[in-house]
Amino acid sequence: MKTETRLVTAALPYINNVPHLGHIVGSHLPADIFARFCRTKGYDTLFIGGTDEHGSTSEIAASEVGADFETFGVKLHEEHKKIYDWFNISYDVFSRTPSKTHISTTQDFFKKINTNGFITSGKMKVFYSPKEDRYLPDRYIRGTCPRCGYEDATGDQCENCTAVLDPTQLINPRSSISGEKIEIREREHLFLRLDKLSPQLESWIKSQTTWRPQVTSLALSWIKEGLKERCITRDLKHGVPVPLPGFEDKVFYVWFDAPIGYLSFTKEAAPKRWQKFWQDDSSKIYHFLGKDNIPFHTIFWPGMLLAHGNINLPHQVIGLQYLNYEGGKFSKSQKRGVFCEKLPETGLDSDVMRAYLTFLIPETADSEFRWDDFQRRVNTEIIGNLGNFVNRTLHLVKQKNNQIVSKPKETELEQIDREILVSVETKVKKATELLEQAKLREAFSEILSLSADGNKYLSDTKPWSSEDSVRTNTVLYHGAAICRSLAILISPYLPTTSKRIWNQLALSGKADAAGNWDSAAELDLQENHRIGEPEVLFGRLTSEEVKRIKNTTSQTTEIKELFNK
Ligand code: MF3
Ligand code: ZN
Repeated sequence: MKTETRLVTAALPYINNVPHLGHIVGSHLPADIFARFCRTKGYDTLFIGGTDEHGSTSEIAASEVGADFETFGVKLHEEHKKIYDWFNISYDVFSRTPSKTHISTTQDFFKKINTNGFITSGKMKVFYSPKEDRYLPDRYIRGTCPRCGYEDATGDQCENCTAVLDPTQLINPRSSISGEKIEIREREHLFLRLDKLSPQLESWIKSQTTWRPQVTSLALSWIKEGLKERCITRDLKHGVPVPLPGFEDKVFYVWFDAPIGYLSFTKEAAPKRWQKFWQDDSSKIYHFLGKDNIPFHTIFWPGMLLAHGNINLPHQVIGLQYLNYEGGKFSKSQKRGVFCEKLPETGLDSDVMRAYLTFLIPETADSEFRWDDFQRRVNTEIIGNLGNFVNRTLHLVKQKNNQIVSKPKETELEQIDREILVSVETKVKKATELLEQAKLREAFSEILSLSADGNKYLSDTKPWSSEDSVRTNTVLYHGAAICRSLAILISPYLPTTSKRIWNQLALSGKADAAGNWDSAAELDLQENHRIGEPEVLFGRLTSEEVKRIKNTTSQTTEIKELFNK
């Protein structure tokens, strides 16, 4: 049988900040859950990511802390990596856009689309700040509104009279960073012919059957507005140099080079077989990203791919909504939020945070992080349901059955046993279908409902008070086998807990071994299987503890501090 190939990506994070929970739940965690599922299901899977380091925002952030560009990138990449490691995000590679492979891949990519006739050049008005010796993007320009005379209008709008502006219309334009006067210059730049690509993009988008409606409709609304040529070069000091005579002093626009990172990092992770992921007909590419990135992943990036040719377009674009915090937005300056760099020092089991975040994955609408909800849901659904079921079962196997369970004979099964067997099979099937569609939240609740069924099975059969040793063995065998299934099913979500259950069951191999997924549907343990020592999986979260975690994680590190040490 030919195994399907899948490439999973999470949007490459910018390095002008340290990630908060919104970033984790908005791409890295869902991508990780999906990638872990794909591996265990047996697909040939690669999960890639890396930091998106170019662009004016990074240049300005680096100069603000007085670091050179490279030092800044290395440090921020390290900070990001530490956080994703704490969350057990299972990247096969977590690279950086300044990498050598990325630079050459981007340049080659550009040469190909240029040869194919999708690049054009033209003049553009840009802003130069002599004081900073830097070209500035529109959002750093302020000036006097030509309509009402308000002196602090931004480049795109006057907040006084609401006039929509083009930054070139501002009177006395200045840099919002230094406040100094800027010059408007005309420079030659390169453009991608998105206009030419529009019909192809439109029919491709319309042919997608598995995208979520909000993703498709957003993409089509862009097409409807009319795609224009889009500038892909910038006058910046750092970035991927443009390999074209006359443009050597320019670099590519950050949104041109960043998505190519998906390709470069695949090469870095799998130098000998990267083509399999990008050129094989049977390969599927899954992009996970926040909703603000949807146009880039449904229009701009696929447009680049079409212009290049001979590369697969994304199969799924999973655009996630936003996570709010306690009735408002995350805000670093107001210390509102959960700032990830503080999580390791709380001593919290990262699976507990992963579990709660899974409940909140903003798949269809924005969702909200609340500490009281965190405590309640973790205590009832993770500890009270899952933790309790596994612990109860394994303790009973130890106390009543000398740690051994043996497979009951078909003739010994009662109606209730047959029911639980059916329930396991049905729920595994349902969870698998949902996971295939990347409906991660729903799949998780299906899995947890299996654990609830297990709890009910125990309460109904009461093995603790049974005098009938054959009957006790039958029930405990099923209970232990459900624990095994659960260890497999939760492995994409709670990887550490999955391993611990597997060890307590004293099973060989690994819960998340490639291809092990489907075996979760069978209640099948080895003859006379001897389990290990039962251990409590999680302690209940007390209010004091939650308060302590909240206080610790609401403190945030200023990027500056990272460079003072
Ligand atoms: N850095 C961008 C953001 O955080 C995402 C880049 S995704 C990629 O919004 F496609 F460009 F890689
Ligand atoms: Zn105005």
